[in-house]
Amino acid sequence: MKEPFLNLIDLNDHPVSWWNKLLDFAHTIREHPEYYAKSCDGKIMGTLFYEPSTRTQMSFQTAMLRLGGTIIGFDNPATSSVAKGENIKDTTKIISGYADIMVMRHPVEGSVKAAALTADCPIINAGDGGHLHPTQTLTDLFTLKEEKGTLKNLTIGCCGDLKNGRTVHSLIKAMSCYNGTRFVLISTKELMIPNYIRDMLNSEGIPFREVTSLDDAIADLDVLYMTRIQRERFGTEEEYQAQKGAYILDKEKMKRARPDMIVLHPLPRVDEIAVEVDDDKRAMYFEQAKYGMFIRMALILTILRGDGKPAKLIKGREHKHVKCSNPACVTHRETYLPHLFEGSGDILICEYCDQRTLI
Ligand code: NCD
Repeated sequence: MKEPFLNLIDLNDHPVSWWNKLLDFAHTIREHPEYYAKSCDGKIMGTLFYEPSTRTQMSFQTAMLRLGGTIIGFDNPATSSVAKGENIKDTTKIISGYADIMVMRHPVEGSVKAAALTADCPIINAGDGGHLHPTQTLTDLFTLKEEKGTLKNLTIGCCGDLKNGRTVHSLIKAMSCYNGTRFVLISTKELMIPNYIRDMLNSEGIPFREVTSLDDAIADLDVLYMTRIQRERFGTEEEYQAQKGAYILDKEKMKRARPDMIVLHPLPRVDEIAVEVDDDKRAMYFEQAKYGMFIRMALILTILRGDGKPAKLIKGREHKHVKCSNPACVTHRETYLPHLFEGSGDILICEYCDQRTLI
């Protein structure tokens, strides 16, 4: 087994001290971007976007260009060999031989971890299906730090599609590591957080409430993190239509919120924030997207400099005959992958998608 690179697959693979260093570095870059304009001279970043993206892809590309590096890649798998049936392993193995660093987004859960097992350069997870989105979380943490001045003692309301919204999963995992965090999880019964996130909150003793009414919850919040209902992750159009429009933040609701509450949203927005809210000074989502570029500049430089300890790629072991219980897991699509699980006894945790499997 080769030594792992300094990848970013799950933020929680790295210590909080490393995240905090990144946030400080992004702050310095934001203040003096000109100091870093040539720091990636001669370096190439590969961006592999198997799924649509505007902000994540372009902020990564802009970040690399602002650091003086160059980019290769695709944003439409239909125009690459993926359309001919090439598997994740082969595509990422080849591009990792051309590039110094890769950024990958894929609709299947655990796919970036799968690519990291054989890639020849560091890889960053830019979203793996409904699972995780660690660089959006770094963007969110950076926005909170810059706008609220602290990451401690915040009451965070997450509202919308908490089942399929990967940004929410990553944010909850990350903010659980800061003292005094409380969560108010606002969703319909159908779109509640996955069990593995609830288990994590319970086992870490993080205070949280699961509620259905945004109106009732909004006055308690320091931060309201809105998300769209993730149409592409529903089994049927009818199921999506039944949830569509479940939460809409408008001026009326904002009247109940504290004067210092901030509204975040990873974007794109569909209808969950009325356009009239954009002019409210507490609406921070457009600034948030810009913060994303600075934190990605800090991340690219930190990874290329090798500033940090690579996380172990395999923490548990292979269980050849056990199949992950999550139908969206990459192991069901890319059948050559070893079935890797952590834990022992009756419950195993899939190393790709984090779901529990009872054996
Ligand atoms: C999010 C994503 O792709 O998960 N967008 C983003 O990266 N800024 C949120 C979403 O698509 O709803």
